[in-house]
Amino acid sequence: MTQSISLNYTKQEQTIISAVQATAQKMNLPTYIIGGFVRDKLIGRQSKDIDFVVVGDGIALARQLSTQFDDARFSFYKNFGTAAVKVNDFELEFVGARKESYTRNSRNPQVEKGSLKDDQLRRDFTINALAVSLNKENAGELLDPFNGIQDLKDKRIVTPLNPEQTFDDDPLRMLRAIRFANQLNFRIDEKTLRAIRNHAHRITIVAPERIVEEVNKILLTDRPSMGFKLLFKTRLLHHFLPEISDLQGVDTKNGQRHKDNFYHTLEVVDNLCENSDDLWLRWTALLHDIGKPSTKRFDEKAGWTFHAHDVVGAKMVTKLFKRLRMPQNEKMRYVKKLVRLHLRPIGLAKEEVTDSAIRRLLYDAGDDIDDLMTLCEADITSKNEYKVEKYLRNFQIVREKLVEVEQKDKIRNWEPPISGDEIMKTFGIKPSRTVGIIKNAIREAILDGEISNNYESAYEFMLQKGKEENLTVNTGQ
Ligand code: CTP
Repeated sequence: MTQSISLNYTKQEQTIISAVQATAQKMNLPTYIIGGFVRDKLIGRQSKDIDFVVVGDGIALARQLSTQFDDARFSFYKNFGTAAVKVNDFELEFVGARKESYTRNSRNPQVEKGSLKDDQLRRDFTINALAVSLNKENAGELLDPFNGIQDLKDKRIVTPLNPEQTFDDDPLRMLRAIRFANQLNFRIDEKTLRAIRNHAHRITIVAPERIVEEVNKILLTDRPSMGFKLLFKTRLLHHFLPEISDLQGVDTKNGQRHKDNFYHTLEVVDNLCENSDDLWLRWTALLHDIGKPSTKRFDEKAGWTFHAHDVVGAKMVTKLFKRLRMPQNEKMRYVKKLVRLHLRPIGLAKEEVTDSAIRRLLYDAGDDIDDLMTLCEADITSKNEYKVEKYLRNFQIVREKLVEVEQKDKIRNWEPPISGDEIMKTFGIKPSRTVGIIKNAIREAILDGEISNNYESAYEFMLQKGKEENLTVNTGQ
């Protein structure tokens, strides 16, 4: 089906596209805008990535184009037959039209030259296979052999080929289908969805980095629960995030049920998304209860318990990040820390809040205290409005107390006034367990409010602790 279409380019887009068009015509290379850019334009989404498909040498076209802009950067990937040109904040990608067949157990395609139609056929979804001609004879014409325009209108994700084949070619597309459904609020076609369910296990051949990229995009939508429910329903989730699929299920004993921690987690994630755009805080919401399945017990008196699921969960974060080859840096430490601390403010909100408990929380959370409070507020998923209001009110009291104590004691980013070095010098001792014992005792005494947070009080206290450890002050220095 062909029709002419106006994509309402911005001035910057028009400049770039006209330059591509002129270069392609000069080089006599049939060229089309294709994929995400066309899709996004048609539904009014902003995009700075423009993909072009060239029937012929796409790399040569890209190279020639890059000479026409002062600040363009050209790069190419010979093996894939693709080239990229970066102009201002636009990323242009050029690919020679190809027929593609993938070897079953790797993502490395064997590329064969093809027509525009061949190239469209090998793309993931009909809405991503729309092409707009830049050629003299039919410039501006929309080439839509699989009726992607109708699918855009109907908000439908469907593959151009038999879905079994499209997913077999690249199993990551199963995840992309769900990610697009979530981002665009589209529905996945029944046959396509069934194929995802049947091929879910094939996601295991995909590099973890590519999987995480899609999960991040799902987490960055307004309502990630929609994507995660689809990941669960198709059982994709079970393959790459079993820690999350394991949360599903409700046990009953002696007439007592616990909540379904999978659906609870999704509610927490959605709640959090209303208050924070931060990807890592969103990951924290997703992972905050992963310690629950392995710590679940039934106690005759207390009912269902999940003791220490915060500590166990934090340990699991390290393994999960490693397995999925996620960053092993301060991002991971941040997620771990918040998972470990996520019960602390709840404990505080339930009791009469003491200054020392607040000081401890400030010390442990440091600069992440506000994020921790945001997570805890999102963690309230009770259906009982009265309870929700009560908890939120209590958290508000905790927040006010945090500000008050911080202004007074400056505990955030605090280091105790006496270092291990000073302890060693004072008593003339080498690094040892005793140094740690004295150092901890000073810190604890300050956090508990036993002594004041200043050098003199800490020094006095150190001398006293040293005596208890049978140490004498080193006078020889
Ligand atoms: N594509 C595909 N199969 C994939 C990845 C990409 O067929 N596994 C095709 C699609 O036609 C897609 C185009 O390559 O539109 C560009 O891919 P990409 O930039 O990853 O996706 P976009 O559709 O542009 O969307 P987004 O930028 O949101 O990822």
